[in-house]
Amino acid sequence: MKQFHVAIDGPAGSGKSTISGLIAKKLNWTHIDTGAMYRAVTLWALNNKIDLNNESEYRFLEKINISYENDQIFLNGINVSIDIRSEEVTNNVSLVSSFPYVRKKMVDLQKKAAENISVVMDGRDIGTVVLPNADLKIFLTANVEERAKRRYAENVQKGKVDHIDNVINDIIVRDEKDSTRKEAPLKKAKDAFELDTTYMTIDEVVNKIILMIEKKENL
Ligand code: DC
Repeated sequence: MKQFHVAIDGPAGSGKSTISGLIAKKLNWTHIDTGAMYRAVTLWALNNKIDLNNESEYRFLEKINISYENDQIFLNGINVSIDIRSEEVTNNVSLVSSFPYVRKKMVDLQKKAAENISVVMDGRDIGTVVLPNADLKIFLTANVEERAKRRYAENVQKGKVDHIDNVINDIIVRDEKDSTRKEAPLKKAKDAFELDTTYMTIDEVVNKIILMIEKKENL
């Protein structure tokens, strides 16, 4: 069978990563969470105390290695899947991912990772920039309260207690930054199918997208 590329984009907390991971697992395809890659860059930048506002300091990307395998993110071979979810990383990742140099490096890596395999890739610019010829493009949305509720539940599960209002605020701020930046902003591709998941369960979303994939495969 021919390789199949699914692009899943959407705002923070829309469930992209969870849903993409489950679809890939069911189909035995590869999942790539591109947000985790930008978070890994941010983590390295913070740990090494570079000036986050100075684009030329991101040249370190020539020397480090970032890879995403089996839903885990590796930075120079070390699993940093937990560290990239810290508040400090979350608060700075929109800035880091706004630099054209950083984006070019990550987009090249992501395009390469999708070569010759069937993949479900999620992020903000997958349907528009990374995989513009994807076989299926989905733009996942949900209202901000629902997205905050999901993030909040995730945080509680990880033992992180915060006020729901802070989570709502974080999501609003990040959405604003991600969709108004100059370089590859969060945007629905013209040929993407928009799916509002506010009143859907994870299983319902996964099953709906799998049906869409099967339909496309049989064309
Ligand atoms: O999906 P996430 O919340 O883990 O993504 C973290 C940040 O990375 C998000 O605020 C914007 C950025 N990002 C991006 O600019 N392009 C992508 N393809 C994926 C994420």
